[in-house]
Amino acid sequence: MKQITQAAELQQAVAEARQQNLEIGLVPTMGALHEGHLSLIERALKENDVVVVSLFVNPIQFNNKEDLEKYPRTIEADLDLIGHLETRLRGEAKATQLLAFTPTVEEMYPQGEPTEVYHFGPVEEVMEGPRRPGHFSGVAVVVRRLFDLAQPHRAYFGEKDYQQIAVIRALLEQIKYPIELVPCPIVRADDGLALSSRNMRLSPAARAIAPAINATLEQAAEMAEYEDVDDVKEWVLDTLASFHEVNPALCPDALKFEPEYFEIVDARTLQPVESWEAAGDLGAVGCIAVWLDGVRLIDIVKF
Ligand code: PAJ
Repeated sequence: MKQITQAAELQQAVAEARQQNLEIGLVPTMGALHEGHLSLIERALKENDVVVVSLFVNPIQFNNKEDLEKYPRTIEADLDLIGHLETRLRGEAKATQLLAFTPTVEEMYPQGEPTEVYHFGPVEEVMEGPRRPGHFSGVAVVVRRLFDLAQPHRAYFGEKDYQQIAVIRALLEQIKYPIELVPCPIVRADDGLALSSRNMRLSPAARAIAPAINATLEQAAEMAEYEDVDDVKEWVLDTLASFHEVNPALCPDALKFEPEYFEIVDARTLQPVESWEAAGDLGAVGCIAVWLDGVRLIDIVKF
């Protein structure tokens, strides 16, 4: 693995790789790596000749200053994890080069904070969109900059951030770059909780009940066989909102789930569906955001 901090150095490495007809895979991250991120890097290492992993806490996608300040920055540990993965995959990986791109904010945005704004229409007008104004535009700005620098053939994104994938798909349609978007499945803890850097902020009691989110979604997928969309939606929201009443012993100190939304949407357009049959080629997906112990958790389930 080679760490690169300068955009020009990355461009140089990429230009050389392109000249040799090598295929490049890009894995954009904000660092604080866990097994979820590593699964994307592993897949990229198996499918490309050169892999660029970016680790950059992108200030312009945070609509909350405190969230930006609190975001964990663990670059040394991250580089160790990537190095260990590379060693573990020796022999199995196709890639012969692994570049960890760790720019400063000034390096990423040399002209100062970008003012360009992206609009994606309906896919960003639901769920996370209205609740995090400017977020997806900020993601699009940084991802496009990474596409420009890394010139990837493939880009890897996790289904944990399901709406982000739809937004990147829309971005690629807008800018017409010939990049293959590779969605990767959610990696979960043994008890089912979707891995996230935010899980570290949960108290032990909250961490103990957090798997109920995934458990509820899995039951919802079973209910979908015989219940209609509205009933499944209502059941998920009620089950989590009343969890503390049904399980008082597990919920000390007023600990409770506060669902922000649960939407059952078309997996491509992200528009709510009224019936299971209304979903298009990618099917229906349920997307949830839940507050627990002051931490906002998101998850999805495919129907
Ligand atoms: P970050 O939250 O660091 O996530 C980087 C990538 O890892 C995203 O594609 C995310 O969906 C994926 N990921 C996170 N947790 C996962 C899990 N448990 N299983 C599988 N994949 C998981 O998403 C971002 O950064 C930023 O918005 C970024 C795209 C880098 C732009 O700044």
